Amino acid sequence: MQIPAASADLIERTADFVREKFQGEGSGHDWEHIRRVWQTTRSLAQNTPAADGFVAELGALLHDVADWKFHGGDEEAGPRAARAWLLSQQADEAVIQRVETIIREISFKGLGVATPMSTLEGELVQDADRLDAIGAIGVARAFAYGGHKGRPLHDPAVAPVEHSSFEAYKRNAGPTINHFYEKLLHLRERLNTPAAKMAAESRHAYVEQFLAQFLREWNGEDLPRA
Ligand code: ADP
Ligand code: NI
Repeated sequence: MQIPAASADLIERTADFVREKFQGEGSGHDWEHIRRVWQTTRSLAQNTPAADGFVAELGALLHDVADWKFHGGDEEAGPRAARAWLLSQQADEAVIQRVETIIREISFKGLGVATPMSTLEGELVQDADRLDAIGAIGVARAFAYGGHKGRPLHDPAVAPVEHSSFEAYKRNAGPTINHFYEKLLHLRERLNTPAAKMAAESRHAYVEQFLAQFLREWNGEDLPRA
């Protein structure tokens, strides 16, 4: 669906606003993450004629604008910040509500917690966000996040956990390798759209390959034998 000029304009202004806000952020929630999620969302929207690309692109741009992880666990901080920005831009109330809903529903909340999206546009943005958490970039982001939190790369004595509540998932502070078992390896099965599932195949395979090699090196299994 072609996006009208006034809407394309709001998308551009929103991109400028978010780019400015995230400049220099190093925890894996940088502008480049948002840019990739935006780009992926746009690609998924172009392959999904029934989706409203305008709402999906705004959702992608604003999905991490005030992440609960960096706002004392406040899950409403994101929707609130998105609403404030869109109101300042005279966006329609209906559009604002649809964007808020995407942000409210998008997060992964632990392996044992279902996170269904109530709108098609939300499904696209959630898929785009999850695709950015796997593949080579997903691996890099996991270690960037772990480093930011001062966590060890790996500790075989600490077993991965299947979190059954968002609260438990939020409190989690295990080594970064555990995050692969607690989230990254499961994202492929938790995508919404066929286009995203297709893109996930090679990214998922890459994560599996990375893990296998990491553990070989950890255990010295790749070293020459005497
Ligand atoms: P998303 O943007 O996919 O919703 P999050 O906002 O939960 O993901 O996290 C941002 C990035 O940080 C993702 O790449 C995610 O995998 C990574 N991350 C989140 N929690 C952890 C963790 N406990 N250990 C390592 N990486 C993490
Ligand atoms: Ni994100």
